[in-house]
Amino acid sequence: MDLNDRSIVLTGAGSGIGRALALQLAERSARLTLVGRRLEPLEAVAAEVRGRGGRAHVVTADLTAAGAPARVVAAAEEAFGGLDVLVNNAGNVRAGRLESLEESEVLAQVALNLTAPILLTRAALPALRAGGEGLVVNVSSGIGLVALPFYATYAATKAGVAHFGDALRRELAGEGVRVLNVYPGATSTPMMDSSRAGAEHGFEYESAEDVAAATLAGIADGSLRVVRGGQRRRDTIALDREDPAALDEVLAARKDALERAVATHSSL
Ligand SMILES: NC(=O)c1ccc[n+]([C@@H]2O[C@H](COP(=O)([O-])OP(=O)(O)OC[C@H]3O[C@@H](n4cnc5c(N)ncnc54)[C@H](OP(=O)(O)O)[C@@H]3O)[C@@H](O)[C@H]2O)c1
Repeated sequence: MDLNDRSIVLTGAGSGIGRALALQLAERSARLTLVGRRLEPLEAVAAEVRGRGGRAHVVTADLTAAGAPARVVAAAEEAFGGLDVLVNNAGNVRAGRLESLEESEVLAQVALNLTAPILLTRAALPALRAGGEGLVVNVSSGIGLVALPFYATYAATKAGVAHFGDALRRELAGEGVRVLNVYPGATSTPMMDSSRAGAEHGFEYESAEDVAAATLAGIADGSLRVVRGGQRRRDTIALDREDPAALDEVLAARKDALERAVATHSSL
């Protein structure tokens, strides 16, 4: 897909990967609907987008709230006369041993990482179809491919949204709307500020700009998946598929250290 001049809804656009996507899309003269809860970071990104030649308007919304999906889609259609691309990027995380999570922390992850993208996509589909060449991008996670201990809920939501994307892609085959799943590895964004897990646990960080650039390259060449995290991540994915018990052993040896490193990891 040629992204030039497209009308794009981008959730979680005020920081991290969403912000990096917005700025790179601006250079393609995209017309962006930037979505998040806080006005100030969205306005700052919108100003940067305009400075780079793109168009942007801001919609403040808690995507887990009733009615938010319809409101976001209506705002994009009103501002730009249609909708070509939906990027389901907003996400949250709360790591730690399952019993240590509050019920509200479990529900918050499911609501934003899984339910919200499904409902927003559902709301956007009529507009995406109407444009004749639509696209849904779901930002999952490497943890959606290889489940890590102490991320049980996050892993479930990220595997869930990826499976949602795969199923929808097949459901929409030949109907003018494509679906791309993106699986970032550890990425230097505000979401990771509270994690102390590093390369020793397989968290080899890359920049949000690199993840965004790979995502836009995947869109341009019609990829079904963009998987980040380098060769080490690819090796782990292969081991998990071919010999999951062997990966269990590797992770069991590091389990206590990983639990300590991610005990405070939360973006809620
Ligand atoms: N960073 C990583 O290592 C990594 C790795 C794999 C996958 N990912 C995924 O990449 C995506 C982007 O994350 P990031 O790393 O860029 O994190 P981030 O900087 O924390 O960005 C998350 C964005 O989501 C928005 N958001 C949070 N709750 C929301 C809600 N209820 N309604 C609407 N917007 C909400 C936040 O803005 P407000 O607070 O203003 O709402 C924020 O702009 C997420 O789906 C994440 O799971 C990240």
